[in-house]
Amino acid sequence: MTTALVTGGAGFMGCHVARCLLAAGREVVVLDDLSGGYRDNVPAGAHFIQGSVTDAGLLAHLFTEHHFTDVYHLAAYAAEGLSHFIRAFNYANNVVGSMHVINECVKHQVRALVFTSSIAVYGASQVPISETDLRREHLATSGTSRRSSLGRQTCGPRLGTCST
Ligand SMILES: NC(=O)c1ccc[n+]([C@@H]2O[C@H](COP(=O)([O-])OP(=O)(O)OC[C@H]3O[C@@H](n4cnc5c(N)ncnc54)[C@H](O)[C@@H]3O)[C@@H](O)[C@H]2O)c1
Repeated sequence: MTTALVTGGAGFMGCHVARCLLAAGREVVVLDDLSGGYRDNVPAGAHFIQGSVTDAGLLAHLFTEHHFTDVYHLAAYAAEGLSHFIRAFNYANNVVGSMHVINECVKHQVRALVFTSSIAVYGASQVPISETDLRREHLATSGTSRRSSLGRQTCGPRLGTCST
């Protein structure tokens, strides 16, 4: 059976992704540092690892051990309002952490990487928002860090071997 990695799987969205994957009969590894999520959110049946996506050594070990076929990257510090006040932490956590995840996906030829962006990448645009309306003046540092993580709106062309 193939194994999926869910980063941030103890969080609001990640725990639902992990639950859906388990319901589909998948093996699931959840990586979460519990900085914002809760151990109780992780669904029974998922293999839980407490650790950070900023830990390149841990990620390298997990990718080598589990041979993930698909990765769902939801680990992030997501509070937009506070993000202006903790820029260095935000970039280290969200940008550098995402780079480590992407590097391992490329290195291990992971079939698909699913990355959750943020509405903050669209800045303070008026609704309705167009997906092509990416402004330079972002609403929050969390939005800037999401765009920086992948460099463009979709990840497929950048990842080469990782396509959605
Ligand atoms: N909730 C929404 O409505 C929504 C909408 C659009 C996009 N998103 C995006 O989806 C992602 C998840 O959002 P959420 O609402 O589930 O947030 P959340 O805070 O509930 O979950 C994030 C999880 O990531 C974990 N985490 C944070 N930094 C980590 C690290 N360095 N290593 C490992 N784990 C780490 C936290 O402990 C937490 O469990 C975020 O990128 C967010 O911006 C959320």
